[in-house]
Amino acid sequence: MTRIFSRSEKLVIASHNPGKVSEIRALLKPLRIDVVGADELGLIEPEETGKTFTENAELKARLAAEASGLPALSDDSGMAVSALGGAPGIYSARWAGPKKDFSAAIKRVNDALLMTGSSDRSCSFICVLSLAWPDGHIESFEGRVSGTAVFPPRGSHGFGYDPIFQPTGYDLTFGEMVPQDKHAMSHRAHAFSQLLEQCLIPA
Ligand code: IMP
Repeated sequence: MTRIFSRSEKLVIASHNPGKVSEIRALLKPLRIDVVGADELGLIEPEETGKTFTENAELKARLAAEASGLPALSDDSGMAVSALGGAPGIYSARWAGPKKDFSAAIKRVNDALLMTGSSDRSCSFICVLSLAWPDGHIESFEGRVSGTAVFPPRGSHGFGYDPIFQPTGYDLTFGEMVPQDKHAMSHRAHAFSQLLEQCLIPA
């Protein structure tokens, strides 16, 4: 049975990515849940050894819940480009290298696309949110948003691959949109609405 999060508990955001942490904080803000970041608790950033977004999200949430003794919410996400067979996918952060250089990661996507000779620029952003409790119970939810990979990158809002992601039906990239507009339609928002409905709103 789905477990409901008790709003009186403190919730750890099990991420060391400042872009994700600020988006998750914004999504949680209206719920007035007391949140604390993994960095603030001095939690280490685990190695992502999973083969899927769900495996990685669950691994991060479980470790943070065990280490902190508090429920922990993690996010594993990335950009999947059709003509690249779904790459960078779960390796989206790793394509930016140890210096987390997303201009380099974006160039790598463009170079890889040019190498394929394909004109298909369809892609999606995928996000799995996992909520784990210290006793090992876990709930996971996946959200997706489809779009087109555009070059050159446009806009300076958001983070990661936002400047090259233009959601289907829109003329602006996530990098050009004001944060509220991205938050209303993103992969993270879709995963969050399921989490909200099933675990955060008391029955
Ligand atoms: P991970 O989930 O820690 O493996 O990292 C996911 C990576 O995917 C991030 O570092 C970003 O590069 C990318 N990513 C995930 N969500 C977004 C988003 O909303 N906008 C732009 N890039 C994203």
